Amino acid sequence: MIVAVPKEVAVAERRVALVAAGVKALVAAGHELRVEAGAGLAAGVSDADYEAAGARISATPLEGAGLLLKVQAPSAQEIAALGSGAALISLLQPLDKPERAGELARAGISAFALELLPRITRAQTMDVLSSQATVAGYRAVLLAASRLPRMLPMLVTAAGTISPARVFVIGAGVAGLQAIATARRLGAVVDAYDTRAAAAEQIESIGARFLTLDLETADAEDAGGYAKEQDEAFYTRQRQQMGEQARRSDIIITTALVPGRRAPLLIDEAGLRAMRPGSVVVDLAAANGGNCALTRADEELNVDGVQVLGPTNLASDLPANASAMFSRNVVALLQHLAPEGRLALDLADEITDAALVTHEGVVRNPALRAALEGGA
Ligand code: NAI
Repeated sequence: MIVAVPKEVAVAERRVALVAAGVKALVAAGHELRVEAGAGLAAGVSDADYEAAGARISATPLEGAGLLLKVQAPSAQEIAALGSGAALISLLQPLDKPERAGELARAGISAFALELLPRITRAQTMDVLSSQATVAGYRAVLLAASRLPRMLPMLVTAAGTISPARVFVIGAGVAGLQAIATARRLGAVVDAYDTRAAAAEQIESIGARFLTLDLETADAEDAGGYAKEQDEAFYTRQRQQMGEQARRSDIIITTALVPGRRAPLLIDEAGLRAMRPGSVVVDLAAANGGNCALTRADEELNVDGVQVLGPTNLASDLPANASAMFSRNVVALLQHLAPEGRLALDLADEITDAALVTHEGVVRNPALRAALEGGA
């Protein structure tokens, strides 16, 4: 099968879907690889690296391709350039943009949304959300540290003792745990909170303190291990009880998400204004509405001296590692979908069924179909 890897066209996207090691693995599996000239440059992969791994560098990689590999969703031009019957693997923000699934179905494309891969053990090697969240969690701490008017570690010097910075991480999933580990490595004192029962032990195992709150969290988790949406009274109590910790923190990293919902509001405007001038909030939930009242996606605000950052694509800031991990994830998925060098889709398979949003002209995913029929 001809597999195309174009240069990403989204603004400020520096990742590439497949690095040279991924090309090598797919060529060995019997695929023919076409990579657009310059596709990997920002991620540190040259055209010569791709060629050495067995790819052909092309100005028009999509022509005649059976599969398009991308990080971000394809543009209208890319959809038009792919022939009917071809397949696509990429992030698609399916629940935010159901109309895109309609376009892909009409174009006859079999589209896999990487966000919809099931969080099961068998699919862990394919889990793009986890690999990219790992990078984002790390980067969020570096970003905050670079804005903070003070150092993170405790230092005992002839000019006096410098006390360690206090970091508060709200939401200890993949990104949050990586943020905690990174802040600890930089010497900060770290506190963290998550509504899921398993989080306390994970937080403490990497050297942070779990903040105990008086909240009823027995029902905070669904069968898949994700956080469940709570009512407004719960979030009000949570905000009140976290207020003191927030006020004492130099850096707050928020990562709290509830799948398919707006991110919960965990720091209100009064809470933000109560923080010390110079403190930094990095809101990793910005793309989903933000955990902090004033967050604006991809903007930086200064609220009475408190800096509020809402980056939505931090993984792209470290494109070498992010692309290498994305590439590994995609190769693992393809080994599952095309073990003999061509796609052999088993629609009854849990992984294929969950991720394949459009196939043979139809939007397969029930939630997307409902959203489209509802005119969303
Ligand atoms: P996520 O990105 O959807 O959410 C981030 C975190 O926010 C979660 O830990 C969630 O519990 C937390 N959160 C939600 N509401 C909150 C609130 N009001 N206050 C504080 N925290 C709140 O989550 P992520 O990182 O994708 O992981 C979610 C779950 O999936 C975890 O249990 C993780 O262990 C599991 N997982 C399983 C994988 C697998 O088996 N393949 C791979 C990755 C994650």
